[in-house]
Amino acid sequence: MTNATQAFTRSSQYFSAADAPLAQPSDPVIPPDGSRRRSMSNGMLQQHARVLQQFNADSIKILLLENVSQGAVKILREQGFEVDFYTGAWSEDELVEKIGGYHAIGIRSKTRLTQRVFDAAHQLLVVGCFCIGTNQVDLSAATKNGVAVFNSPFANSRSVAELVIAEMVCLSRQLTDRAQEMRQGTWNKVSKRCFELRGKLLGIVGYGHIGSQLSVLAESMGMQVIYHDVVPLMPLGSARQADSLEELLSEADFVSIHVPELPETRGMIGERELSLMKPGAYLINNARGTVVQIPALVEALKSQHIGGCALDVYPREPAKNGVNAFNNDLNEWASELQSQANVIMTPHIGGSTEEAQRAIGVEVSNALCRYLNFGVSTGAVNFPEVNLRPITEQEVRSIRLCYVHHNQPGALLAVNEIIGSHNVDKQITDSLKDIAYLLADISDVSESDIQDIHMRLSKTPASILTRLLY
Ligand SMILES: NC(=O)c1ccc[n+]([C@@H]2O[C@H](COP(=O)([O-])OP(=O)(O)OC[C@H]3O[C@@H](n4cnc5c(N)ncnc54)[C@H](O)[C@@H]3O)[C@@H](O)[C@H]2O)c1
Repeated sequence: MTNATQAFTRSSQYFSAADAPLAQPSDPVIPPDGSRRRSMSNGMLQQHARVLQQFNADSIKILLLENVSQGAVKILREQGFEVDFYTGAWSEDELVEKIGGYHAIGIRSKTRLTQRVFDAAHQLLVVGCFCIGTNQVDLSAATKNGVAVFNSPFANSRSVAELVIAEMVCLSRQLTDRAQEMRQGTWNKVSKRCFELRGKLLGIVGYGHIGSQLSVLAESMGMQVIYHDVVPLMPLGSARQADSLEELLSEADFVSIHVPELPETRGMIGERELSLMKPGAYLINNARGTVVQIPALVEALKSQHIGGCALDVYPREPAKNGVNAFNNDLNEWASELQSQANVIMTPHIGGSTEEAQRAIGVEVSNALCRYLNFGVSTGAVNFPEVNLRPITEQEVRSIRLCYVHHNQPGALLAVNEIIGSHNVDKQITDSLKDIAYLLADISDVSESDIQDIHMRLSKTPASILTRLLY
């Protein structure tokens, strides 16, 4: 029996409502449209979406490295994927040797996916970075090979927001200095320049995922909130948007930075901005190390214009854990900053909680499932984000075409010459720089149609990766 014959046999046998892998009510799988909010659609999709199989592949093999969360392993295995799980990172040579056997790989920050690795990854469709950043992946090599890359940029927002609350309490009570003194046997009971949070004004710079969560938490502590953002944003609770950064700096008792690292945000808090802050106000930076000019901050601390600061991020951070890893060789002002009063320094742990790791596991594994099962690229960092409503269980003779191609003139004409004579139920395409991605559902195709469409599309000049799901 050919692959295509199996396709239709398996469709009718496999995709009854009872067996469909998405049909379990307890599954945390996000619906194919990527939405996490539309629970009604989710319910509808769980009943009707047909989980698709890949044409020309007996099973999907996934390599998971670096001890990604067990929740992720469970979600992927429940989808019927073959999952190989390893706790450590692999070297480039090891990857080059073995990556050819896998359709997907999940990594955290230590595994480097280089051009060499992608060149050896003949079957690779998708990469899941079970972390925030994607610096460890050569995104341009991934894109050239038609491999989509997903990450989880916002799963740790709550963890960061909670840390800021803790830091505000610690700064306003000089808690870390008192605790440090007690470790050395010093009893120093003071109340001067120690304050409650209640009634104080928190200024949030960047009212995105973290800033807005922080806003809600701070209000529940009895604080008032003002925020500054480059875009007008709906305030949560009783917060209000400041007209300018200067207005926020001059009014706030606490200033907490939550902007991304961009050319415009590099060094955005310097001598001038610090001088605009209220005397005795506190500065907190859990965003990116380059946003605050640390030498200027040290001067503001020395003069006691600033009442204290909490920093979780630095312009240069050690590559690995270790005693004395954070020193003047790394950042020339390190020891001066360490010696100031009421300074809390943490090693980039804002998002480092078990809850965040679990949330990352669920988010990234769901993104992998959506891409592998439905071709949906919503949330990909290197691909145009393309989504198409699913093929239903009733549509057993329908296939989905996933066509990753060069964004070049005539590409879609060539596709339409091949599929144009078939019944194309729905079709969508988008591009991102040099790459474009098309999803199309075709109904009433025969076994030989599938073979023919796959073969001819794979040979089109613009094709990078052609995949058929049935
Ligand atoms: N310390 C940690 O472990 C940790 C963990 C997660 C995120 N982060 C960092 O926190 C920061 C915020 O993350 P997020 O998830 O809230 O990001 P986000 O993209 O959801 O929000 C950022 C907000 O900043 C605004 N913004 C951009 N440029 C601005 C400017 N010049 N002035 C004012 N506002 C500006 C944007 O409009 C947006 O609303 C990022 O730098 C991120 O890398 C750190």
